[in-house]
Amino acid sequence: MHSVRYEPLGVDPTGARRGRLHTPHGTVELPTFMPVGTVGGVKCVDVERLEGTGAQMVLGNTFHLALRPGGDTVEKLGGLHAISGWQGPMLTDSGGFQVFSLADARKVDERGVRFKSHVNGDIIDLTPERSVQIQEQLGADVAMQLDEVVQLPSPPEVVRSAMDRSIRWAERCIAAKTRQDQSLFGIVQGGLDPEMRRLSAEGLVALDMAGYAIGGLSVGEPAADMYRTIEFTEPLLPKEKPRYLMGVGTPDDLLESVQRGVDMFDCVMPTRNGRNGLAFTYRGPVRLKNAVHQHDQRPLEADCPCVGCRRHSRGYLRHLFMAGEMLGGILLSIHNLTFYQRLMAGARAAIEAESYAEYKRACQAGWAKKPN
Ligand code: GUN
Ligand code: ZN
Repeated sequence: MHSVRYEPLGVDPTGARRGRLHTPHGTVELPTFMPVGTVGGVKCVDVERLEGTGAQMVLGNTFHLALRPGGDTVEKLGGLHAISGWQGPMLTDSGGFQVFSLADARKVDERGVRFKSHVNGDIIDLTPERSVQIQEQLGADVAMQLDEVVQLPSPPEVVRSAMDRSIRWAERCIAAKTRQDQSLFGIVQGGLDPEMRRLSAEGLVALDMAGYAIGGLSVGEPAADMYRTIEFTEPLLPKEKPRYLMGVGTPDDLLESVQRGVDMFDCVMPTRNGRNGLAFTYRGPVRLKNAVHQHDQRPLEADCPCVGCRRHSRGYLRHLFMAGEMLGGILLSIHNLTFYQRLMAGARAAIEAESYAEYKRACQAGWAKKPN
């Protein structure tokens, strides 16, 4: 059987789900947000600070780790858990999406994707089998299938062909698996089209994978299109398996998607924006480089338990960014991850209380106000 297991705990009247994901490295309370540790560490945030944000599960990227330091090196160092120092549950993306969004001189055919390494110019062959092999070397609790991702909008025959191929690649990933302590998730593709999403979901559900991701979204389409696509895709997925929306998103995206039955998220938004001086708060985004913060003695968020909010003022945080001091990016990355975790903890509590609709409304009313 699968090494990870979904435990349902309840469904709110809106459709938001409260559950648990049991993994070989511990249990994750769902819905959850996974911080992104692209190269085996979350940018600007060491693992002890990361634990302090309330994070439960961390994501790593096969694409980046395969290029540097390489799957063999990570394996010789004891795997991704060992090198990252993160003892809890982990998930690795397959490299599919990153190849399609980042790689140079890319060539894709039925065998897999060939591209040029941005690290040393080597030609890399990423096949479904190779992606599974590298992800087994990394050793996360959950591995993702290799998938073919298309830009939106694309002609229907392009979306269709990538979606069909992704099902065949899922089968090859399953066949290539050797580790019993790692589970494989399928990735539903099919653009914004209900029929293609249905075919994709049916093809993957027939393979009885450990969980299912909704992929190919948050690639530039309007938010309403993304929400609609989640809405018609979710009922196609088995209730007894976890659902993961890949690469999403803003605080609004998380709340809207939880309501539509999503359990897991990952996104670089909290960390990337934090490094750029943008803080997420319950009163909306705050741009700390703005001059209005220069003499502001107040904390970024009075009730936030993060170190930046407990020990420092907005004026000081702004100063760090103006001075180009790394500590600014560190403190805001920690704050933003803390905010995302608080948002999801609040969602879990609201689902348990069957008051998710009010929770979402109150959050959205808060960040619609002018930040102060
Ligand atoms: N990250 C964000 N979207 C996707 C997707 O569609 N596929 C994969 N593999 N990773 C993603
Ligand atoms: Zn804070």
